[in-house]
Amino acid sequence: MTLRNEGTIPAPAGGGMQDGAPGAREPKKVFIKTYGCQMNVYDSQRMGDALASEGFRATERQEEADLILLNTCHIREKAAEKIYSELGRIRLLKAERARQGKGLNVAVAGCVAQAEGREIIERASVVDLVIGPQTYHRLPEALRRVGRGERVVDTDYAVENKFDHLPKADRQATRRRGVAAFLTVQEGCDKFCTFCVVPYTRGSEVSRAPDAILAEARELAEAGVVELTLLGQNVNAWEGEAEGRHLGLGGLLHRLAGISGIRRLRYTTSHPRDMGDDLIAAHRDLDMLMPYLHLPVQSGSDRILKAMNRRHKADDYLRLVERIRQARPGIAMSGDFIVGFPGETEADFADTLRVVSEVGYASAFSFKYSPRPGTPAADLGEQVPEEVKTERLDRLQALIRAQASGFMDSLVGTEMDVLVEKDGRYPHQSVGRSPYLQPVVLAKSAGAVGDIVRVSISRAGPNALIAAGGEPEAVALKTVA
Ligand code: SAH
Ligand code: SF4
Ligand code: F3S
Repeated sequence: MTLRNEGTIPAPAGGGMQDGAPGAREPKKVFIKTYGCQMNVYDSQRMGDALASEGFRATERQEEADLILLNTCHIREKAAEKIYSELGRIRLLKAERARQGKGLNVAVAGCVAQAEGREIIERASVVDLVIGPQTYHRLPEALRRVGRGERVVDTDYAVENKFDHLPKADRQATRRRGVAAFLTVQEGCDKFCTFCVVPYTRGSEVSRAPDAILAEARELAEAGVVELTLLGQNVNAWEGEAEGRHLGLGGLLHRLAGISGIRRLRYTTSHPRDMGDDLIAAHRDLDMLMPYLHLPVQSGSDRILKAMNRRHKADDYLRLVERIRQARPGIAMSGDFIVGFPGETEADFADTLRVVSEVGYASAFSFKYSPRPGTPAADLGEQVPEEVKTERLDRLQALIRAQASGFMDSLVGTEMDVLVEKDGRYPHQSVGRSPYLQPVVLAKSAGAVGDIVRVSISRAGPNALIAAGGEPEAVALKTVA
């Protein structure tokens, strides 16, 4: 895997940026498409902010864009391959725009950009710019170079901290994004699980300084944000210092809880080894910390966990979940699982099913192992045949589905606080978020966007809860009456 790339390649004829006298034309439009995890969602927003300060306006319509930016994910083969098929479609769009006398620039950002760098430009001639997750604060400068006819690859790990060089989000833009916001506090990973590309695409673990995080959180709150989700590839490895004392994620959460306007806190994604005592105690002491925790274990077999370099055993994980549940009874657990890691036997897989049964998940994500170039597990023998992976994934997902729907059903008849987020499908409905992260359809009359309202759950669908007054039938009943 190519990890570092920097340089330029001459642009093909006619590939330059269509740029003219600034201010003489309509604002340029950017279409941003995001793949992968929440950290990419946050990065896309920040890239949008950086481009807005260069005069770009965001568009939802790819056909009218002057710049298409793909913020990509490299985690599994399918995710990476999607980008090349998307670039194939964009090539046709570029040709169509050229027929209309309009230009189109194409930028690839994110983890595929970091992992493949120059290869992208060589494989896809439509691409003008490749920019990594650590360098996107240089996007405006890179686009100026594209405007001068260069093809740019900028994926070197920047010495400067990108967060110090990014423009602040415009308050209106934050408002449009809604009352629940992401805030990246930690980046990168030093864990080197043998299946995973993240340590290579995102670099080593770095924590943002508490002051910068608190300042950004205050700005979000002033723009109307009520719920904050702290993000990091290994968010619970976050550490900082305040008043000369070491601060862990638990301490940071306490400080964020003091910001006026912020009423709910979450964080994701965590590694079991970094679940410190201060963080577990925060689940006990901070009501604002929502009772939902995504804590991936990947496998229930000690043999496979060792081969994955997870550096914990299945029992360590089970004991940890127990401690978290003691701290916060009723907390909803979520996780990630990989089936068909090299060498996984039926007995190993049975251990995974056992862990799932013991924990009882409110939701969980499960994947077939995908060998990633440059990671140690990709070179292991004993790769598991595709049909075995498919069959195991089906069994695991059936178990997880049953647990998830059992959890949803257990909420029917209960009362809970819901953060109202947006309008629903029908005029009498709003959609909000439960403490356990599920969407809740509720009556619009229950409260305005940004309010936290107490509702009674009357029904559970596969992906959403319905609160009294939020049923679609309420419309029909009203019409009949
Ligand atoms: N930092 C997080 C997860 C990052 S990736 C953590 O440590 O939990 C999100 C999930 O993708 C992982 O939890 C894992 O389940 C899955 N994943 C990562 N690499 C994979 C691979 N090569 N094949 C299949 N799934 C993978
Ligand atoms: Fe990947 Fe493991 Fe790091 Fe998570 S902890 S990002 S799975 S290497
Ligand atoms: Fe994908 Fe990169 Fe996130 S590989 S999961 S976008 S950190």
